[in-house]
Amino acid sequence: MDRFFPYGRQCIDQDDIEKVVEVLKSDYLTTGPWVDEFEEEICKTTGSKYAVVVSNGTAALHLAALVLLKKGDKVLTTPNTFLATANSVVYAGGEVVFCDIKEDGNIDMEKAYGMLKNDPSIKAFFPVHFSGNPVDQDILKKIREELNIKILEDCAHSIGATFRMKDNSIVKAGSCTFSDLSILSFHPVKHITSAEGGAITTNSKEQYDRLRKLRTHGMQKEGFINKDMAFSEDGEENPWYYEMQEIGFNYRITDLQCALGISQIKKLDDFVARRREIARYYDEAFKDSPVIPLYEYNENSSYHLYVIRVKYKKNDLTRSAFMNFLREKNIGTQVHYIPVNKQPFYTKRGHGKETIPVMDKYYEECISIPMYPMLKDSDLKYISNTILSKVKI
Ligand SMILES: Cc1ncc(COP(=O)(O)O)c(C=O)c1O
Repeated sequence: MDRFFPYGRQCIDQDDIEKVVEVLKSDYLTTGPWVDEFEEEICKTTGSKYAVVVSNGTAALHLAALVLLKKGDKVLTTPNTFLATANSVVYAGGEVVFCDIKEDGNIDMEKAYGMLKNDPSIKAFFPVHFSGNPVDQDILKKIREELNIKILEDCAHSIGATFRMKDNSIVKAGSCTFSDLSILSFHPVKHITSAEGGAITTNSKEQYDRLRKLRTHGMQKEGFINKDMAFSEDGEENPWYYEMQEIGFNYRITDLQCALGISQIKKLDDFVARRREIARYYDEAFKDSPVIPLYEYNENSSYHLYVIRVKYKKNDLTRSAFMNFLREKNIGTQVHYIPVNKQPFYTKRGHGKETIPVMDKYYEECISIPMYPMLKDSDLKYISNTILSKVKI
């Protein structure tokens, strides 16, 4: 095989390129009409009332954490996530508490419920819909209704995913049905891309207004405190005037990126459909083999990642030898994730000794294999056969 298959990659066509070129020829490169249009498209896709697009998913998490947390607040999250989820708590002056996961890679929702209920010092819950498989929304609903805590859903992996509730109703990822805020990421390995980019969705007008302010330095154009500076002697509002009442950032995203995002989001359904087909292909290829897919086929998952579990030792392998073997065969893999609580930054803050046996075992065995819509069935055959040639037990 002469092509390299990364574990994830973008899918860009001529149409996407033309949409970006259109912006380059327009009057706006940033803070233009494509920003509003991308936000509208995100609302349509997720079913949330409001969306605020920002420069990346990490910026989205940062602003979301600032809106939800007070200094010193404890926040419960999963160790099986990218650093940014936990880091956002630290940015906002909070303290992270880690909860173990279940066999499907998601935070253990029953356990999380118990921890939140029994420890009133935990003020917020940041679940991650790992790999595109939403956490149990019936339990999230229970947490929302019974416990007075803030909820942020990290949907960086899960745009396009759904969850079927016990009453058969469907909850869309990013809709904030049982949360205050959700965040999305449009990094190239995700379902849709704007090169870099992210968004926060919410159903609260108040939070939406605050997030928009924080995105641009904390500047506001109404509700002024310095009335003498904001208005001229005849009572007219001064057209140049803006005011900063709290510290914000430049987390804006460009119109070039938003145009790409708009073009991409229109293809999301097709992208997710192909991801699900790929998952089915792999599931079938690994059936009755020692390669264990992370979870049984789930029609609601939007399959950002396809994770398999392998007993390396039994196969006289180390994971790094297995990854190097696959790399030589032009197959890229990755480990999602190193338990965040074991990162030196977090061990210095007293973490690392949490009892999280499911996460620890999962981390020993997991590996993500190529998953993106452009993979053809012949590619999948090559990838799965190459994996199976090395994993015998
Ligand atoms: C679960 C999760 N949250 C947040 C992020 C951060 O997104 P970004 O890379 O757009 O900053 C990522 C990115 O990989 C992620 O996987």
